[in-house]
Amino acid sequence: MKRALDSNLLSPLPIVLIGSLVDDRPNFLVIGYSAPFDFGKHLFFSIYKKRYTLKGILEHKTFSVNIPSVELVDKVEICGSKSGRDIDKSQLFEIFYGKLKTAPLIEECPISIECEVVEMLDYGHNYGVIGKVVKSYVDQSCLVEDKLDMRLVKPILWATGGDFNYYHLGERIGAEKPYK
Ligand SMILES: Cc1cc2nc3c(=O)[nH]c(=O)nc-3n(C[C@H](O)[C@H](O)[C@H](O)COP(=O)(O)O)c2cc1C
Repeated sequence: MKRALDSNLLSPLPIVLIGSLVDDRPNFLVIGYSAPFDFGKHLFFSIYKKRYTLKGILEHKTFSVNIPSVELVDKVEICGSKSGRDIDKSQLFEIFYGKLKTAPLIEECPISIECEVVEMLDYGHNYGVIGKVVKSYVDQSCLVEDKLDMRLVKPILWATGGDFNYYHLGERIGAEKPYK
């Protein structure tokens, strides 16, 4: 027997650190509500208009998406609770740039993606940002025979609709890949 709840239970979601250049300084925030679509060629995330990171996204029309591993949870907590208006979050990480020169990428995150903004959906207090994936970067240590193994990335999973806490990725259960 199922119970009907009003909350969105599409969960868990991997949290990401979205980066932008605000007044020439890299800034990062935690985003829980993100998703790839168009079979991975585009991605989407929700951002409140008051976020400092949004300033850089609107200015340069670029941003980065970085997947932190569980070891980075303390820094993730800073990025998700303190605003770049009040502290300098650029000092938390080593930063590099790829093809786009205004999307700061995080060296310590095993996966980083640079994106160009293609659409901003106005939802009142927040925007839905749609980005085109320009390039993805992965730490060599997460590749097995040149293929990404997510167990080595150790992403932080966020239990939206549940206790809103962080979780580890579990074990692989499929012997063969179910879908490519
Ligand atoms: C688990 C988690 C998920 C979050 N998801 C979002 C989100 O989807 N959209 C958003 O605007 N803020 C989200 N936040 C809040 C921002 O990360 C936070 O307010 C941050 O300090 C804003 O930084 P900034 O002002 O430097 O941009 C989330 C925070 C946490 C801890």
